[in-house]
Amino acid sequence: MTDYPPGFFDRADTGDDARFYGPPRLVQHIDDEAIAAVGAYYDEVGVTGDVLDLMSSWVSHLRTRPRHLTVLGMNAAELEANPMADARVVRDLNADPALPFGDAAFDTAICTVSVDYLVAPVGVCAEVARVLRPGGTFALTFSNRCFPTKAVRGWLAADDEGRAAIVASYLRDAGGFDEPVAQRRPSRGDPVIAVHAVRR
Ligand SMILES: C[S@@+](CC[C@H](N)C(=O)[O-])C[C@H]1O[C@@H](n2cnc3c(N)ncnc32)[C@H](O)[C@@H]1O
Repeated sequence: MTDYPPGFFDRADTGDDARFYGPPRLVQHIDDEAIAAVGAYYDEVGVTGDVLDLMSSWVSHLRTRPRHLTVLGMNAAELEANPMADARVVRDLNADPALPFGDAAFDTAICTVSVDYLVAPVGVCAEVARVLRPGGTFALTFSNRCFPTKAVRGWLAADDEGRAAIVASYLRDAGGFDEPVAQRRPSRGDPVIAVHAVRR
């Protein structure tokens, strides 16, 4: 188990996430080039079948509509506006990292530009391992942009490579996954870093 330093998961804004995410933000959190890079990456790793988009909003960045897409996030209006979603779940993963789904319910899980906000990410990744079918992929992407008051301090103190190492350690510590693969994806705009791991 990784020994995260004291204060690593602290955040400047300790207020309720429900309040922060109350107003819908129907915006792009990364630029067009980075969005294209995320879509190409999800295509490459194969985001198919029954898909869970964790910490989702009005767009899931998938080029191809999967068989079934469940989106989970904090804001009902954002999730309602997601044109690919088949099922929508409003849930605060910092209040409770448990996922409201059965074991082996999904083929693929994704989390786009959001893992930095989790205060119990290892617990959430362990839950993703539980809800993924064997051979399924959990793919996470992130950039260097965020809501800084809501990101954990350990994330804010790291650079892109350090953040890739942080996400890989979350997945290793969660258990249930093969060795994570981290990579920088080609983007002429905002940087795109990706980490994925396959459910054993
Ligand atoms: C920067 S946005 C990214 C949204 C979307 N994934 C995208 O790529 O555009 C961060 C998202 O994380 C979600 N989020 C933040 N804190 C969360 C929490 N505690 N539990 C569940 N979702 C959360 C919010 O609903 C918000 O839509």
